[in-house]
Amino acid sequence: NTAKYIFDKDFTVGAIDDKVWSSFTEHLGRSIYEGIYDPGKPYSDEKGFRNDVKQVVKDLNLGVIRYPGGNFVSNYDWKDGIGPKSERRKTMEFAWSSIETNQFGIDDFCQWCEEVGVEPMIAVNLGTGTIRSAAELVEYCNHDSGTYWSDLRIKNGHREPYHVKYWCLGNEMEGSWQAGHLSAEDYAKKAREAAKMMKWVDQDIKLVVCGTSYEMLPEYLDWDISVLRELYRYVDYVSTHYYTMQSKDISDVDFLASWKELDNHINNTRHAIQLSKDKLHETKDVKICLDEWNVWNFQDIKMDSMEDLNGKTTFELTSAGKWEEHPPILQEKYSLLDALTVGGLGLSILNNVDIVSIACLAQLINVIAPITTDEDGNLLKQTIFYPFADLTRYGRGTVLKGVFSGGTQNTRMGELPTVVAAAVSDEQAGQIRVFALNSDLSAPASFAPEFRGFDGAAPKLVKHEVLTGPDLKARNTFEHPDTVVPAELPVAGADGAGSVGAGAVELPAASWN
Ligand code: AHR
Repeated sequence: NTAKYIFDKDFTVGAIDDKVWSSFTEHLGRSIYEGIYDPGKPYSDEKGFRNDVKQVVKDLNLGVIRYPGGNFVSNYDWKDGIGPKSERRKTMEFAWSSIETNQFGIDDFCQWCEEVGVEPMIAVNLGTGTIRSAAELVEYCNHDSGTYWSDLRIKNGHREPYHVKYWCLGNEMEGSWQAGHLSAEDYAKKAREAAKMMKWVDQDIKLVVCGTSYEMLPEYLDWDISVLRELYRYVDYVSTHYYTMQSKDISDVDFLASWKELDNHINNTRHAIQLSKDKLHETKDVKICLDEWNVWNFQDIKMDSMEDLNGKTTFELTSAGKWEEHPPILQEKYSLLDALTVGGLGLSILNNVDIVSIACLAQLINVIAPITTDEDGNLLKQTIFYPFADLTRYGRGTVLKGVFSGGTQNTRMGELPTVVAAAVSDEQAGQIRVFALNSDLSAPASFAPEFRGFDGAAPKLVKHEVLTGPDLKARNTFEHPDTVVPAELPVAGADGAGSVGAGAVELPAASWN
């Protein structure tokens, strides 16, 4: 199994936007409560924010964090989550059948973002919410003073406006599982009016319109074109989501091929945007906000029904259903295989950074997440944390286009390179970072990246980090947190640095490098 990739300094995909490495946290299960906010505990600060979580999130150096949903937002009244905590009412939360205590709200989130050094990206409720309430939320967050909502923010202890720049016009509004779900035409009208009003409050905000996410829905992409017809001039991004799941008839190799499915999905959305732009004779570019992406194996969700209602495919998700406060739901436990798959998805994002400007790993803490916490103040980095941390750390700079030749594999997504790669040139650091996934599960691969057009001596290989292991099902647990962790491999050459051009690098079987 050999793989050769040629990269040329002048042939680039594009610069990586800082927001390409972002995340998402929703009022869902133990994501906010117990994950971010756990007041009165020795491991939390005086505001109730968990210190250990703050530190890990800070270290990830993320661009934005999307909040408060997700499906949650389509039932959410942000006004329930502001003001004195003792006066906040408990509400029925319909997306995940839980009780929402409203002890954490928009002010808490914006403050937490400041502490962890990220920008908030806030979704407004365009399901059960009104366009007026959406505009009022912008006023509450961004207007200086002298109006009812801005003065209320000040009264609530926050003199300075938050200047929230990124706003999502609802969440997955194409789905029948969404409270207040709308047809494309109805959503387009409502979102356009919300966009108008939100921009009247603050003309500097950037807007993300809901595109479609799931190929099995009949609306897939037709929706995007209808919606963009109304909203192209108002928005900067189209939102789309991608989750991959290993069902029982998907082999490990097929699951690893998910990167290709995401690649196709991004390109489908790209084409819908391009078509809309051309038809409308627009000149500005609208980018993709992949504001949810991850492996999600639906470990504790029951798919209740997959039925055909009035010619529309619909399904319901049920979770706890017990009306509990922050129940421990959707707490995925990730394996080495999941981590390799997440790495592969990261490669697709990198190789499409010309159109993907925001991408949020969904989610951040405890719910389908790289980080989990327990009540004793322990924090666990799951397997998927590691490829994501590699991407956030090393995936900075300009992505180079790669030309591949070498071994291929037959997968559910067709014949694909067994080694898939992306290269990032960081001119400031004088480094090229190569990310590579070897999906050959039984044999190492001989990987030969070649770099052209760079002045000076041939690049030296200075570091090779790898995530691999003998058991694809292995997981990290609170008892054994280091079962799946990255290791550094020795690099060839007398001085510990081998010339990349001089020979191939060996990538272990089933490995993220
Ligand atoms: O991230 C979990 C859920 O997945 C989100 O609430 C929703 O937007 C998506 O379907």
